[in-house]
Amino acid sequence: MEFTINSPIDMHLHLREGAMLECVTPLTAQHFSAAIIMPNLVPPVDNLERLLQYRKEIEAAQGDDVFDPLMMLFFRQYSEAELKAAREHIFGIKLYPAGATTNSEAGVKALDEVESTFALMEQMGIPLMIHGETHGFVMDREKEFLPVYAKLAEKFPKLKITMEHITTRDAVELLDRYENLYATVTLHHLVITLNDVAGGLLNPHLFCKPIAKRPEDREALLQAALAAHPKLMFGSDSAPHPISKKECCGCAAGLFTAPVCLPTLVELFEQHDVLDNLQAFVSGNAQRIHNFTAPSKLVKLEKIGLQMPARYGDVVPYRAGESLPWAVTQIS
Ligand code: DOR
Ligand code: ZN
Repeated sequence: MEFTINSPIDMHLHLREGAMLECVTPLTAQHFSAAIIMPNLVPPVDNLERLLQYRKEIEAAQGDDVFDPLMMLFFRQYSEAELKAAREHIFGIKLYPAGATTNSEAGVKALDEVESTFALMEQMGIPLMIHGETHGFVMDREKEFLPVYAKLAEKFPKLKITMEHITTRDAVELLDRYENLYATVTLHHLVITLNDVAGGLLNPHLFCKPIAKRPEDREALLQAALAAHPKLMFGSDSAPHPISKKECCGCAAGLFTAPVCLPTLVELFEQHDVLDNLQAFVSGNAQRIHNFTAPSKLVKLEKIGLQMPARYGDVVPYRAGESLPWAVTQIS
């Protein structure tokens, strides 16, 4: 049995820098034709010079694979001149509430003080991507943030806003309420719940932000993804950390999913007998919503089995050591 995906796109990806970037970039560049590159480096990617330099480093690491890194600026107050200069080089701007997750200390402390930048982005057609969590009780952080999305969507009706890596049923429901509100969802939030993270022995490799939620949340996300909900896009949030930062006290948040995304998505969509919807979920929706064309790339998967390694360099992948049914067998 085989299945071919045309130009798969990862709408939310962390590549890091240095040796980690060199290790993980080829794994996404092989399977995907484009990916949105998150800017939460230290210091953050919050100026054009750093962004262009970062892009060069990614291109050097990706080798000969057909792959388009879609660059993001880290949200801060920007002037009109800065945004005009950056416009042609960026896909959008990623907003982190200060301290919400890894390397977000330089994020926004008060959203109502940065509205002039939202207004400029709206005028210039620059998409806004948001890590939507408050600093409340960990299971409620996304739900508590939803009114902020609603307020922004109403106040800036021409601003394209993406709720990044949604994890709750409430977020899925909000999608249909505002025309200019979209969402990405990860692979792991379609599969795991908090039980997998902390219901038995603690599994640091499944710890991420936002934390995995309840079975009913996972079910709502899964149904929306399987139906290729027209406002939902695949964004892996593959977020590698070295093993020393995961298997320790003070474990960093993030799952490294890049190498298993396509095999696991095909497995999931096949199990639910909706393989025909995968193309829209993993490519078509993103290109329609953001009006762009990803480089052409045909990725063929076959049901021949795939033994996942325990490590890639210093990183433990999601599904490490498992035998998966599907494998990528041809890329053209
Ligand atoms: O789990 C996460 N890891 N969530 C994020 O929002 C950031 C990411 C990272 O950069 O490690
Ligand atoms: Zn992320």
